[in-house]
Amino acid sequence: MHHWILAACLFLCLTSGAQFISTSHHTFNSVAVADSGLTYVKNSGICETTPGVGQISGYINIAKNASIWFWFFEARSLPETAPLTLWLNGGPGCSAMIGLFQENGPCTVNSDGKTTTLNPYSWNIISNMIYIDQPVGAGFSTGTGTVNSTDDAAKMMWTAFQILFESPEFSTFQGRDLIFATESYGAHFGPAFITYFNTQNTLIDSGELTGQKIIFTSLMINDGKHDPLIQYASYINFAADAPGYGPLQNKTVISAMSDAFSTKNTGCKAQLEACYAAGTRRVDDALCAAANDLCNQDIFLLAIRGRDSDNLQQFSNSTDPFPPTYYKSFLSSKSVLAAIGATSTYDACSNAVQARFNSTGEFGRTALPPLAALADAHFPILIWVGDADIKANWLGVHEAMVSMSWYGNLTLNNTALTNWTIDGTPVASVKTVDSFTFSRVFGGGHNLPAYVPSTALQFFSRVAGRAIPSSTPSPSSPEPTTSTARKTRPVTWFWTLLCILFTTI
Ligand SMILES: *[C@@H]1O[C@H](CO)[C@@H](O)[C@H](O)[C@H]1NC(C)=O
Ligand SMILES: *[C@@H]1O[C@H](CO)[C@@H](O)[C@H](O)[C@H]1NC(C)=O
Ligand SMILES: *[C@@H]1O[C@H](CO)[C@@H](O)[C@H](O)[C@H]1NC(C)=O
Ligand SMILES: *[C@@H]1O[C@H](CO)[C@@H](O)[C@H](O)[C@H]1NC(C)=O
Ligand SMILES: *[C@@H]1O[C@H](CO)[C@@H](O)[C@H](O)[C@H]1NC(C)=O
Ligand SMILES: *[C@@H]1O[C@H](CO)[C@@H](O)[C@H](O)[C@H]1NC(C)=O
Ligand SMILES: *[C@@H]1O[C@H](CO)[C@@H](O)[C@H](O)[C@H]1NC(C)=O
Ligand SMILES: *[C@@H]1O[C@H](CO)[C@@H](O)[C@H](O)[C@H]1NC(C)=O
Repeated sequence: MHHWILAACLFLCLTSGAQFISTSHHTFNSVAVADSGLTYVKNSGICETTPGVGQISGYINIAKNASIWFWFFEARSLPETAPLTLWLNGGPGCSAMIGLFQENGPCTVNSDGKTTTLNPYSWNIISNMIYIDQPVGAGFSTGTGTVNSTDDAAKMMWTAFQILFESPEFSTFQGRDLIFATESYGAHFGPAFITYFNTQNTLIDSGELTGQKIIFTSLMINDGKHDPLIQYASYINFAADAPGYGPLQNKTVISAMSDAFSTKNTGCKAQLEACYAAGTRRVDDALCAAANDLCNQDIFLLAIRGRDSDNLQQFSNSTDPFPPTYYKSFLSSKSVLAAIGATSTYDACSNAVQARFNSTGEFGRTALPPLAALADAHFPILIWVGDADIKANWLGVHEAMVSMSWYGNLTLNNTALTNWTIDGTPVASVKTVDSFTFSRVFGGGHNLPAYVPSTALQFFSRVAGRAIPSSTPSPSSPEPTTSTARKTRPVTWFWTLLCILFTTI
């Protein structure tokens, strides 16, 4: 018996495997929702490697036919009093793991696809974070997917939150600030979900519905797809002269876009107006889907020609596009999946979900009415856009905000943007009407926090009403590139196996 080897191995197992030892599988059965509950793993030690910071990953199982994937991270400081923030990506059908690993989560994945680096600008520095893949089909979420509209998706998310808040792990968040943070197609999800949840809250108050009230306290949408009519028109102006960057296309292309937009009866504008006139009448689903396809073909594709539609500073022929997608290899690793409790296959953006939303014509319809109603009711809202994003460019988003129907539209339009300077560097220009803020963020692309992580954390800190601890690098220090990679689970297994091997020979 090699006692010294045994001792060394025990030491290694206990230190490198400490988090492994505390990992555990759990089940929660809902009483409120039939045949539903949670299956999850606690403290996998994956991604968030800060000592003592808890995490939970797993599925919200609904009515035996839907398993909604979630990944929760405790705030790195004062989790007992910090708000809870829900992060959703757009698509529709895109996974919140994009946000987690590329934008604002506790870690990024290194180029080896196996190791991770802590993100010094992670939003869980100031808030508890829950990332949810929705609807069924997005990311790890699996089951019988039938959700074909934002309104449908809202219902499933409400049920998911009933189960979450009923469980002992999450009931503690009842009554805490609850922030809804999303981007891109999330401009449909955010306002509609909050509105639906508020309707349910009213029914619960009046005794017509039994359930837990889920009260969102603020909404932040970056680079939103709010309104096709306004935003397709914006591609013409933005491509002609992107403020701060100059023209993206030549005059021939711009004039072709203008013509395609305005052609009487058959142009993009006329087709979308016909869709808008139909309102939500389902008989015109095909008309709305066709209008969007036409505009996409004749306007959007011309505006972005040769460039990355997410970031005008990057050409579409880039062989090393930013942000990198190393996290996809990470999420295909069997040992990582076993550690976090994922039993389904990862799909970053589901074509099936996209096709279902297309079939109801939602891509041709506006998402502004519920956002306008929230703004009109003084609900705290941050609309922020990276000024290098073509897809949801800030000219179009700004136009949507000043044109929608709410009491502050004229004031917002008559208020000038003023620079927000942090440590001597202007990071964004901003304007506010009461609890509504609009911002153009300098240098940011579509998945905004990926491009300007420190600035994004500064914005989030304002929304959350919580200061960033002073240990966090200031925006003037260089953004992190790579630092020492923290080894994850596979390494723990490696040591454990080595120990067994050595101690048995
Ligand atoms: C799941 O089953 C329930 C009850 O049978 C049904 O109402 C619901 O539409 C189903 N959901 C999905 C996503 O298939
Ligand atoms: C304008 O740009 C298009 C597409 O890049 C190109 O095919 C065309 O030759 C250009 N026209 C002029 C006049 O430069
Ligand atoms: C990529 O496209 C840009 C702009 O069209 C061009 O200047 C550059 O040479 C291209 N690079 C490669 C590697 O093809
Ligand atoms: C929507 O459906 C139509 C008809 O099936 C198809 O031609 C089009 O490519 C789809 N568009 C999108 C954005 O999925
Ligand atoms: C969308 O889903 C709803 C509810 O499941 C269903 O009634 C409707 O027929 C679906 N619409 C389309 C176009 O498939
Ligand atoms: C906003 O103000 C500009 C002038 O600064 C004006 O041209 C535009 O029509 C206004 N938009 C709205 C929606 O009122
Ligand atoms: C601004 O909102 C009001 C409702 O408060 C609406 O009547 C008006 O049409 C909106 N303005 C624009 C330019 O859309
Ligand atoms: C705001 O900051 C931008 C970016 O640095 C700069 O180009 C612009 O001149 C500044 N505006 C004012 C009014 O200082």
